[in-house]
Amino acid sequence: MNFENILVELKDKLATVTINRPNKLNALNRATIKDLSKAFKILDKNKLIRVIILTGSGEKAFVAGADISEFANYNEKEGRELAAKGQKNLFTLIENLSTPVIAAINGFALGGGLELAMACHFRLASNSAKMGLPEVSLGVIPGYGGTQRLPQLIGKGRAMELIMTAGMIDAEKALSYGLVNQVVPQEELLPLCLKIAGKISNNSPVAISYAIKAVNAGFKSNAKGFETEIIAFGSCFGTDDFKEGTTAFLEKRKAEFPGTR
Ligand code: COA
Repeated sequence: MNFENILVELKDKLATVTINRPNKLNALNRATIKDLSKAFKILDKNKLIRVIILTGSGEKAFVAGADISEFANYNEKEGRELAAKGQKNLFTLIENLSTPVIAAINGFALGGGLELAMACHFRLASNSAKMGLPEVSLGVIPGYGGTQRLPQLIGKGRAMELIMTAGMIDAEKALSYGLVNQVVPQEELLPLCLKIAGKISNNSPVAISYAIKAVNAGFKSNAKGFETEIIAFGSCFGTDDFKEGTTAFLEKRKAEFPGTR
């Protein structure tokens, strides 16, 4: 499988998907989302593959968010479409994949990066990992399911604080919150994923796919939450705060938000 922005490695019953834009800290642009969507669909059809590991290339980042340079000039409609298409083509796709997907968080998992990790079935992290949803520091909100999956995983109060402060937590705190299942030194992260993947692949793939379905069904009542997120995400793109937040990031300066609605 050849892709421009990701690497896919197949070995025995395991596929490792590596997001490969290290110079941009593996930020998710549209092309990368497309590649990932295609790769996950192909891998899910391959009955020989029992587990997929998703990680980022380099030692610094899993994914440092959606590519800010790409959406800074979007209007409300384009913003809404960005969230709706991304959710459908990648984030919801991964969550509902029949093949188990483990996120190996090897560094920054911010914004869309943390949302991507949260769409995976569970998460393991290196001790250098840092996680957060910094969107409101840019004048926008999480749009790839973050407002829904973060409270599911760590509880409403902690999620509200992380989203409102746009702060980052380290791997140990993420572990104590239940956001990641285990934390190990960087060099032990992929070996740990392989060990767990090995255990999973001894079990019935059919039963596992039904288990994924059943677990996910328990969270379906919040379908309106995802919809509300898409509409609110789009609305952000019509605000002066969003223009200031994204411009400030690209100009590498602190944002001064006008705060007008
Ligand atoms: N979108 C686009 N480009 C990004 C990016 C993103 N989300 N995150 C990082 N990059 C780019 C930087 O612009 C920089 O590119 P350049 O070398 O061409 O200028 C490169 O990746 C390296 O990032 P840099 O900011 O120089 O690294 P750092 O070590 O100083 O800081 C972070 C690391 C993660 C703290 C910082 O990159 C950051 O805050 N990123 C944005 C996080 C974010 O807000 N994500 C949510 C988006 S909705």
